[in-house]
Amino acid sequence: MKATHNLLTLAAVVTAAFAIGATDAAAQAYPNKAITIVVPAAAGGPTDTVARLMAESMGKTLGQQIVVENLGGAGGTVGMARVARAAPDGYTLAVWHIGQATAPSLYDNLRYDVIGDFDSIGRITDVPMTIVGKSTLAPNNIAELLAWIKQKQKDVTYAHAGVGSAAHLCVLLFMSALKIEMTAVSYRGTGPAMTDLLGGQFDMMCDQTTGTTAQIKEGKIKGYAATTAKRLKVLPDLPTLDEAGLKGFEVSAWHAMWAPKGIPAEASQKLVAALQVALKDPKVIERFASLGTEPVPLAQATPDALQAQLKAEVAKWSPVIKAAGVKGN
Ligand code: MLT
Repeated sequence: MKATHNLLTLAAVVTAAFAIGATDAAAQAYPNKAITIVVPAAAGGPTDTVARLMAESMGKTLGQQIVVENLGGAGGTVGMARVARAAPDGYTLAVWHIGQATAPSLYDNLRYDVIGDFDSIGRITDVPMTIVGKSTLAPNNIAELLAWIKQKQKDVTYAHAGVGSAAHLCVLLFMSALKIEMTAVSYRGTGPAMTDLLGGQFDMMCDQTTGTTAQIKEGKIKGYAATTAKRLKVLPDLPTLDEAGLKGFEVSAWHAMWAPKGIPAEASQKLVAALQVALKDPKVIERFASLGTEPVPLAQATPDALQAQLKAEVAKWSPVIKAAGVKGN
């Protein structure tokens, strides 16, 4: 009788242990707590806008809150360094852009390897850019602006979001196409730069449509040209720089999501799946369209596609940056 009782007790204990184990495993299934997306640029800017849209949609899919942490500075390398050394557990991510590809050529003492220290999750959107100016700027169209810049050169002030930011790269290409130099004003993101442009603190900048479309439409800033091969659906009256004579001028801020190297396969799979759901999300598609951009094709929203894109872009920008003789430090 006693032996049977002990066996039953033992069985009960083992069953309970399994149950606890099972609940632990379920409780530990990814994600079981809030996730952080680090944006290496100031709040309120173009990349912040993209990241918050992803955070909202992916949070719903993953059943966990996703918070955005803005950590601007040094052309985005401060924020990306934070993610590179974060725990590879799937709870710290980054949303950044073309700046990831240019950082190796610009920053000699970069504290991370843009390819080796990150797991790719996938591409998100390629945001077109626009040449804009303060509302009181004399030129009223791109032809007048180009003539005015060629005359004024260093007296023209332009803003960017740090060396290697999309706003910086765009103007680097623009200046080398015009063979002129203008005077730079550096910010932690084009969000705060836009505030100062609205206040007339500097003359012009090249910024993403996610930051400029509404301001141009409301006439609060002057829109001069788009940096795309074709005109923008959202701003059809804006000529392209190619139309304005800068033949073949084309640059966009391709955005993507990364994690620290070595996150669990389960987390990677769930993040890729949630990203793909977000890129099909009607709310995301509608918001992107109102801001002049669109999700990348789903085949691009994969780790392999992003890795290939990053390698190609690092190779593409290195000679351009070398030729421009620009350094971040
Ligand atoms: C931002 O969000 O501020 C921009 O992406 C910065 C940049 O131009 O790279």
